[in-house]
Order: sequence, then C-alpha cells, then structure tokens
Amino acid sequence: MLSRRSREAGEGIELLTGDLATREGIEAAVAGAEIVVHCAGSTKGDEEKALNLVRAASAAGARHLVFISVVGADRIPVVSGVDRAMFGYFAAKLGAERVVADSGQPWTTLRATQFHDLSLMTARQMARLPVIPVPSGFRFQPVDAGEVAARLVELALGTPAGLVPDMAGPRVYVPVRTGHDSGITDAAARRHKHHMGAYLDEGAWTPWPFALRYGVIEIR
Ligand SMILES: NC(=O)c1ccc[n+]([C@@H]2O[C@H](COP(=O)([O-])OP(=O)(O)OC[C@H]3O[C@@H](n4cnc5c(N)ncnc54)[C@H](OP(=O)(O)O)[C@@H]3O)[C@@H](O)[C@H]2O)c1
Repeated sequence: MLSRRSREAGEGIELLTGDLATREGIEAAVAGAEIVVHCAGSTKGDEEKALNLVRAASAAGARHLVFISVVGADRIPVVSGVDRAMFGYFAAKLGAERVVADSGQPWTTLRATQFHDLSLMTARQMARLPVIPVPSGFRFQPVDAGEVAARLVELALGTPAGLVPDMAGPRVYVPVRTGHDSGITDAAARRHKHHMGAYLDEGAWTPWPFALRYGVIEIR
C-alpha cells in the first residue's frame, strides 16, 4: 500500500511511502504488482496523479488497473468557477476515470455513492446551521465503505471489466422540511435534529412535494 505518510502497517500489509503528485515512491510501490488498485482521491490534480500511477503500473507490467470513482462523475456539469468550487471533486474523478480508461491497460472502474461516514460528517456540519438550503428533489443513497472495499477486491481479482454497474447502499434518503409550513410540529423538528446522525428516512418523514425551487430545512 502506498501512502504519503509512514505509519504502522496492519498484518499482511506492506506499506510504502510516496506521493502520486511528485511520483516519489511510485515505482517501488508498483514493482512486481500485477493488479493495481487506485483509491487515492482529492479535489485537485487527480488526472495527473492517476497518470503518474498508470504510467508506472504499465511500465511495471501490471495486468489490471482498478479504480474507485463516484456515482454522478459523468453527470454533474462542471463548467463555471462556482461549479468547480462546489463540484470539482466530481470533475477530478471523471478526469482520473478517463486516464485509467485511456491507459491501454486492462481496467475496471467502480463508481460508488458517498460512504456513510462522509454523509454523517456532512449532516453533522449542516446541523450546526439554523437553515439549510437544499436543491429541490435532492436524494442521497450512501453506502458502507467496507462493502465497497469488498467489491473492489472482488473486481480486482476478476477479469478486467471496464466501467461496472454503480454501487449504492440499500436505502434512498431525502432531506425533509421541518417547521410549520411542512406540517411537521416543532417537537418533531427537534426529534428530527437528533436523527440527523441516523439520516433522514423517506418512509418515516413525508414532506409535502417541493413546490419551490429550493426546499428549506429548519433545524432548531
Ligand atoms: N468517501 C466517499 O464518500 C467516497 C465515495 C465514492 C468514492 N470515493 C473514492 O474512494 C476513494 C477513497 O475515499 P476516502 O473517502 O476513503 O478518501 P480519503 O479518506 O481522502 O483517502 C484518500 C487516500 O488517498 C491517499 N492520497 C491522496 N493523495 C495522495 C497522493 N498524492 N499520493 C498518495 N496517496 C494519496 C491518501 O493517503 P495518505 O493520506 O495516507 O497519503 C488517502 O488515504 C477515493 O478515491 C474517493 O474519491 C469516496
């Protein structure tokens, strides 16, 4: 496993330090590796980092590149500066996807939805605000990171398959409007705040249809 930091490696894991951005340590990391799984992700420079890894892996004779991307990478338009500021992550993932697909090496890419811990962290941060604007029709379907990791292992050990079906968790969640105009009581709104950490279940909360361009969640 390649990481920028040295740390204690788990049992059966050989840890090498290096950086995909500077190319330091990549050659040593891929030497002798037949299968290379690219999990590093950031919001900037991902194409270049993927290219550095892909080139080193190809030179080392890897026979399978596996990449983890994000659901929606090809559907979120990232054109303006504002788009880039908000959704640059998706553009970075799509750019890296293309590098892998154009590498000339057999490849597999899995797009996954947000992991639970990321959704939880985002919900907790949002819960600090008194009012949260939510794009109308917003839905999310987070997935367990362990299950994604297991799927990546399965794919890595299988035949290179190109872009495989998206992976998402079993439940779709919708943010709900709380407050008087949604018909939800103040007591329910307070309970709802406690439930932010457990996500918002479509079945448990039935907001009236969003009539406005933006729905608003009030949580206090
Ligand atoms: N989190 C999600 O909800 C989600 C959803 C779908 C797909 N994904 C994708 O799944 C992958 C893992 O996600 P995550 O949330 O676990 O990400 P993360 O916690 O940010 O981990 C990304 C890893 O990439 C490594 N990395 C970043 N830049 C690097 C560089 N220049 N050189 C070497 N290593 C570098 C980091 O390793 P060190 O810090 O140890 O160097 C870090 O461990 C990412 O590709 C992400 O885009 C994530």
